[in-house]
Amino acid sequence: MTVYDLSVTDALLSTTRAVRKRLDLTREVPREVINECLELSQQAPTGSNKQGWSWIVVTDPAKRAALADIYRKGAGTYLQEAEQDAAAMSDGGQTKRVMSSAQYLAECLQDVPVHVIPCINVEHMVENPPPVAWAGVMGSIFPAVWSFQLALRARGLGTVLTTLHLRAEEDAVELLGIPNGVQQVALLPVAYTVGTDFKSVKRPPISEITHWEQW
Ligand SMILES: Cc1cc2nc3c(=O)[nH]c(=O)nc-3n(C[C@H](O)[C@H](O)[C@H](O)COP(=O)(O)O)c2cc1C
Repeated sequence: MTVYDLSVTDALLSTTRAVRKRLDLTREVPREVINECLELSQQAPTGSNKQGWSWIVVTDPAKRAALADIYRKGAGTYLQEAEQDAAAMSDGGQTKRVMSSAQYLAECLQDVPVHVIPCINVEHMVENPPPVAWAGVMGSIFPAVWSFQLALRARGLGTVLTTLHLRAEEDAVELLGIPNGVQQVALLPVAYTVGTDFKSVKRPPISEITHWEQW
């Protein structure tokens, strides 16, 4: 017995990719679509059922341009170097393609119509947090981020989870007026996708990474 149509569910789960080169920079994204996807993301789990998240949605062109500058400042030379390193890897060019795509995004981020910055409350985070605190904080936002990404994909939109702007996160705090005790965790550039036919990719077999009963 299955509860949901597995051909649809499994396709959604296995083909929701990091989209960069196929973000449609020309098509407007209605506010209602973003709200609908955010609404769905609110069903994600959180530690102690706290829902300590907030979401900053940026569509203003000047602010998007500033965020793109912050992203590039954060990236520094990382993407170029990673692209060069990837050329030597024997993974069928997968990492090289990712890095070339990441380089493209860094160049056109300002033109992606919507930037979404998920945030989590860290007011009660202790100094030098133990593993349980890190897991509690990050684990209370990334499930919602992924739900948001899946909801976008189901509606013909795409995004990619990025973190490089966090290397210059203070600049974004100032630009967007983010209060103390609120931690940004990512920047998601959101747009309709050019075509919707995304595919699953090759990953290491689960037999290599799964430990039944004992490591
Ligand atoms: C924690 C995290 C941070 C990431 N940061 C960036 C980033 O700053 N810039 C970027 O272009 N992609 C970033 N990515 C996207 C990954 O490169 C992408 O998920 C990976 O290459 C797999 O691509 P796929 O999901 O299409 O298989 C990040 C992904 C994760 C999970």
